[in-house]
Amino acid sequence: MRRGSIFQLVGLGVLFGAGAAAVALLIPWLPDPASKQADRIDVLFWFVTAICIGIFALVAAVIVYAVLKFRAPPDDDSDGPPVHGHTGLEIVWTAVPAMLVTAISILSAVILTQNERVPRASAGVARDPLTPLHVDVVAQQFAWLFKYPDYHNATSSTLRLPVHKTVVLRLTSLDVIHSFWVPQFSQKQDAVPGLITRLVITPKRFGIFPVICTELCGLGHALMRSQAEVMTVADFRKWAQRGSGAGGGGATGGTNGKALFVSNGCNGCHTFKPAGSTGTVGPDLDDLTAEAKQAGKPLEDFIRESIVDPDAYVAPRYPKGVMPKTFSALPPAQIDALVKFLSGGSK
Ligand code: CUA
Repeated sequence: MRRGSIFQLVGLGVLFGAGAAAVALLIPWLPDPASKQADRIDVLFWFVTAICIGIFALVAAVIVYAVLKFRAPPDDDSDGPPVHGHTGLEIVWTAVPAMLVTAISILSAVILTQNERVPRASAGVARDPLTPLHVDVVAQQFAWLFKYPDYHNATSSTLRLPVHKTVVLRLTSLDVIHSFWVPQFSQKQDAVPGLITRLVITPKRFGIFPVICTELCGLGHALMRSQAEVMTVADFRKWAQRGSGAGGGGATGGTNGKALFVSNGCNGCHTFKPAGSTGTVGPDLDDLTAEAKQAGKPLEDFIRESIVDPDAYVAPRYPKGVMPKTFSALPPAQIDALVKFLSGGSK
């Protein structure tokens, strides 16, 4: 190969490599990592991206060089010269990709193992509920519920996390498969009925990040969102020890209508002013009196029936079979509290 050709090939390679690198670096494709695990995944992501840019530059340079240099004139119908391969070249293009793929596998395995690691409380010392913090995540159509077993089962529809403390999420689902995703934490984990899946997160900066369901789970899938709020350890303790109360908190065993409305995920789908909810998957519950009249039933009976047997009467314009039938399993006292809360709010 002539020296001039090598210069041209290298020049093309640098050009394509710089172009691909600019696309990768100058466009903010991913959100800023907000956890230690996301930082490690970021390292792996850029390692793979760098390899891809190198291979892209090589392939693009050779293709463009060949197209320009070996173009056949329009009237040239002759065959190309017979070529019998090149053993050295074949060894190189087999060995180099094999080494790269092996390197990616090893780095992935190391990072996945590190991301699963949970700090252990030292032996003999009473367990600090923050090493690690346990949160039970319950997904259902179409809401997230977060429970804190080490804090008197405090529950919240927002995932509250103390900064720099490792949290172990234990996820499950009441109905179909959902998937937990916070883009800034980089990881996803399925919530599967009958199984407990696990996800380890160590938030490293303050902020409010979206919690998104990434498994198509029904009509309200696109609206199955919540928030993860990373706060100081002191703020978290203050909130968790208060446990119940308004504003998304509330013990699951109680009979506070508003807390039940939130902890059962009603707020995920329904607009209801007294609860401050704005869901649009199901009917607006501020119009229940008119709705009950239309269904031809007394208000309280209508509300009760709609909770335990949602398909008995479905508001016009809304499809049947969307609202989960799981609420009939709630303790009667809690259903009573919800009926009371909902009938009181619909004046
Ligand atoms: Cu839950 Cu999609």
